[in-house]
Amino acid sequence: MKHKLIGPFTQVVSLANLPMKGAIEDEALEIIENAGIVIDENGKIVEIGDFASLLIHQYSEIEGIEGDAVLLPGFVDCHTHICWGGNRARDYAMRVAGKPYLEIAKAGGGIQDSMRKTREASEEDLIGVTQQRADRHFSRGVTTIEVKSGYALDIDNELKMLRAIKNADTFTKADLVSTCLAAHMKPKDFEGTSKEYLDRALENLLPKIKEEGLSNRVDIFTEETAFNQEESLYYLQKAKELGFEITVHADQFSTGGSKVAVEVGALSAEHLEASGDEEVKLLAASDTVATVLPGASLGLGMQYPPCRKLLDAGACLAIASDWNPGSAPMGDMLTQGALLGAMEKLSTAEVFAGMTFRSAKALGLTDRGRLQKGMLADMQMYPCADYREILYNQGMLLPSKVWKKGE
Ligand code: NIG
Ligand code: FE
Repeated sequence: MKHKLIGPFTQVVSLANLPMKGAIEDEALEIIENAGIVIDENGKIVEIGDFASLLIHQYSEIEGIEGDAVLLPGFVDCHTHICWGGNRARDYAMRVAGKPYLEIAKAGGGIQDSMRKTREASEEDLIGVTQQRADRHFSRGVTTIEVKSGYALDIDNELKMLRAIKNADTFTKADLVSTCLAAHMKPKDFEGTSKEYLDRALENLLPKIKEEGLSNRVDIFTEETAFNQEESLYYLQKAKELGFEITVHADQFSTGGSKVAVEVGALSAEHLEASGDEEVKLLAASDTVATVLPGASLGLGMQYPPCRKLLDAGACLAIASDWNPGSAPMGDMLTQGALLGAMEKLSTAEVFAGMTFRSAKALGLTDRGRLQKGMLADMQMYPCADYREILYNQGMLLPSKVWKKGE
């Protein structure tokens, strides 16, 4: 067995002992000082402990760390749309000047605009931009990235997007997890009802996705302007029967989506800016992860989701970037998590948990997000002596080293 020892780290913040649901106080954080971490040849963690004590044993390699260093699990971004063509700077300028997002969408801008440019892009173009964005994310400590289709909205181009995501995964160091979001919106050129559009996806797209092994996840945008609750329930139940895991764009502008998500047993309900006390209660009592997307609030100039209430009620709160050309162009998870914490009064432990193991749960992944024996050595190191400096710098202190499976 080949074992590598990495260290010494001033602090290792393992998150190993933190609960999957509910509020967490910073006192619950387990901080291991002057620590080393041992990785096996499969990129899994074998041991974490006092560096000097670990140093007594034999290793095939020792990776030395110099200076102050705080080690965290790599971030898991469980909600992005980083495969797209073109950009929406024009929309953004209109929005900051006061024109509402849904109005721009109705006038043929918004998602329909990205759709045109994504349909025009070749698969190679999409592989290139997706890899570029994934690499940027990786350099900022994001080691697992969910990526949705949903900017093509016809069978062939949705498949093109999913193939591009699969290919980009082989080029970037981060792990990409793809999701079919053909139910993002009914495209303007589809002549038929929403139900007919969804039926076409169920009959002609989802079986092909399974056949080619392009994704095992299905998402929908539940909103009166996209797909209503009844249509969403119908589509998701059928997708589930076909063997897909479910996630929902829920409660972004109006409520209803989180109810759909809980009813179909979705892994996660995502957005939640419009969620009220009823939705908070519902999500807290369920196994569905409540994923919040501060980047969308920042991009649209909207209120944040009720994060404090969700945590206090006992929900599993994940934090993701929603990186996309329209509502969330920034794509910087760390800055967004830090700002969300400040605005919603979250502990550092709650922000870290939301961006690591709780976000992994939203993807159904149990092998990452905490630094402990048996977990993947997906890790990031910050050049500081105290873990609190990370959020304190509000995105301006970046990781100096990032490992995927110990490399
Ligand atoms: O998560 N709300 C729907 N979908 C995306 C935005 C898509 C876009 O505007 O391009 C979101 O915010
Ligand atoms: Fe989204």
